[in-house]
Amino acid sequence: MSFLTILFVISFIEITCAYHPNVLLIILDDFKPLLGCYNDSQAVTPHIDLLASKSFIFTKAYAQQALCAPSRNSLLTSRRPDSLRLYDFYSYWRESAGNFTTLPQHFKQNHYHTHSVGKIFHPGISSNYSDDQPYSWSQKPFHPKTIEFKNAKVCTNSDGSLGRNLICPVVTEFQPMGTLPDIESMQEAVRFLRNHPSTNKPYFLAVGFHKPHIPFKFPQSYLDLHPLSNISLPSNTNRPSLLPDVAWNPWTDIRERDDIKKLNISFPYGPISNDNIKQIIQAYYASVTYVDDLIGKVLKEVDFGNTIVILTGDHGWSLGQHGEFSKFSNFEEATRVPLIIYVPHLSDRVIVVDSLVELVDLFPTLVDLTQISGPLEQCALGEVMDVCTEGQSLLPVMIGAKKGKSAVFTQYPRPGAHPSCNSDKPHLKDIEIMGYSIRTRTFRYCEWVQFDHSNFTVNWNKVYGREMYDHLIDPQENLNLADRKEMINVRKKLRRLLIAGWRHI
Ligand SMILES: *[C@@H]1O[C@H](CO)[C@@H](O)[C@H](O)[C@H]1NC(C)=O
Ligand SMILES: *[C@@H]1O[C@H](CO)[C@@H](O)[C@H](O)[C@H]1NC(C)=O
Ligand SMILES: *[C@@H]1O[C@H](CO)[C@@H](O)[C@H](O)[C@H]1NC(C)=O
Ligand SMILES: *[C@@H]1O[C@H](CO)[C@@H](O)[C@H](O)[C@H]1NC(C)=O
Ligand SMILES: *[C@@H]1O[C@H](CO)[C@@H](O)[C@H](O)[C@H]1NC(C)=O
Ligand SMILES: *[C@@H]1O[C@H](CO)[C@@H](O)[C@H](O)[C@H]1NC(C)=O
Repeated sequence: MSFLTILFVISFIEITCAYHPNVLLIILDDFKPLLGCYNDSQAVTPHIDLLASKSFIFTKAYAQQALCAPSRNSLLTSRRPDSLRLYDFYSYWRESAGNFTTLPQHFKQNHYHTHSVGKIFHPGISSNYSDDQPYSWSQKPFHPKTIEFKNAKVCTNSDGSLGRNLICPVVTEFQPMGTLPDIESMQEAVRFLRNHPSTNKPYFLAVGFHKPHIPFKFPQSYLDLHPLSNISLPSNTNRPSLLPDVAWNPWTDIRERDDIKKLNISFPYGPISNDNIKQIIQAYYASVTYVDDLIGKVLKEVDFGNTIVILTGDHGWSLGQHGEFSKFSNFEEATRVPLIIYVPHLSDRVIVVDSLVELVDLFPTLVDLTQISGPLEQCALGEVMDVCTEGQSLLPVMIGAKKGKSAVFTQYPRPGAHPSCNSDKPHLKDIEIMGYSIRTRTFRYCEWVQFDHSNFTVNWNKVYGREMYDHLIDPQENLNLADRKEMINVRKKLRRLLIAGWRHI
């Protein structure tokens, strides 16, 4: 640690010891870093960019699985999908894996007032139909009423009829109840922030926006900020020739929407026309700009002298790259998320951090930043502790005292070796293969191996596919090098690291 760093830490600790800052955690759904502050020239995101201008921006942050429920439960407990035994939507960790303490629960137990607005836990079985109540939150979680119309036929077709479309610009006033879910969530967050001082406790407020998750339903005026003529296609819209079949996610959730069904896209590989890809990209950008406006309204109510703000997504999304859409894979596009952390007194300008980090790191990081308890211990192998972490605090990386991890991990299950209509979201009972992926600074290596869903065992000797990408020369992951003879030693080394896993990084 340099002298400057030590001074930095001491003054930071002095400041935070005096009081516990509030925490505002903002999670967007299916959110890749298409943001101005991530140097995306097509993005229109002034409010997030303003927050980022005095924050840490992490350029290599990764989700542990590119699916909502496993990723969110992993982030919120700081445990990996293999530890929660959750790869689908259909089990609750307290009943299936262990009575693990969550991030908001830890804050609640340490005298914070915790509140959930919108989608933080995935709804349904995986949070016991209650957003993990009564454990995680100090008051009843808020859900927007209009979320019940999420999949209603409310999107206008060109002939005036209504459909359940993928691309769904709307006139808000004409929607059921005259509003949209994320607008309701923004209003609840504003209400909470204005009234909160009366509770005399610091707050942990988690706000989960539903966009840019499909359907792309947003006020149509946002399209004007993203004219089709300004939308550029990714340069890699073809399926890579050396991609193993098992790696492919056939984006069934997109195909199911009424407007896409009409296109009669052949299953499982397409193709889909460039015009259609552009329209999907346009709708994604417009959805992000819409949420950015709502985030601006929430941030206006925040006391930045006394509030830590974290903004991230539960996982990424392919937008035509490799001929893919949606999440459901181990590609960089699906696993990389934006991560912006504002800390009062620690960041007064943008600080870009390119260390490898994971969403399981957020729990120990917030504990360090607020000092609400001693630092979290690493979860012991096979031992069921209530509070521990399978990540690492980012504070040492943020203050420049440590370089960070040498690798991060992501996984995705499949029901079989070839794309089927069940490939994207297999239920646990159908999972036969697990794709384990390691991302180092240079490479992504992924191995799709036999997985026994009855006892959660992996057979590393039965391999269904391998992928290896060199990010120094191929950041888009177009060229699978796994079977190159001259790369065999690199592959063997990466395989050893992958099998050894996160405890050995
Ligand atoms: C954006 O680009 C600038 C200039 O190349 C670079 O310094 C900065 O690190 C980039 N920011 C991110 C978040 O990648
Ligand atoms: C689970 O933990 C909570 C506190 O974190 C405790 O109140 C509850 O009794 C525990 N449940 C079981 C079954 O141990
Ligand atoms: C889950 O919810 C059910 C029904 O409300 C309840 O009986 C059960 O105790 C809950 N599980 C836990 C671990 O709290
Ligand atoms: C579209 O692109 C043109 C040329 O780059 C630019 O001048 C214009 O501002 C863009 N329009 C919008 C709405 O961003
Ligand atoms: C859809 O495509 C298939 C071949 O991919 C073709 O046989 C069929 O006629 C098409 N249907 C429509 C309605 O265009
Ligand atoms: C897991 O179950 C399978 C059969 O379902 C069995 O062959 C295998 O040995 C079991 N593995 C362990 C570690 O128990």
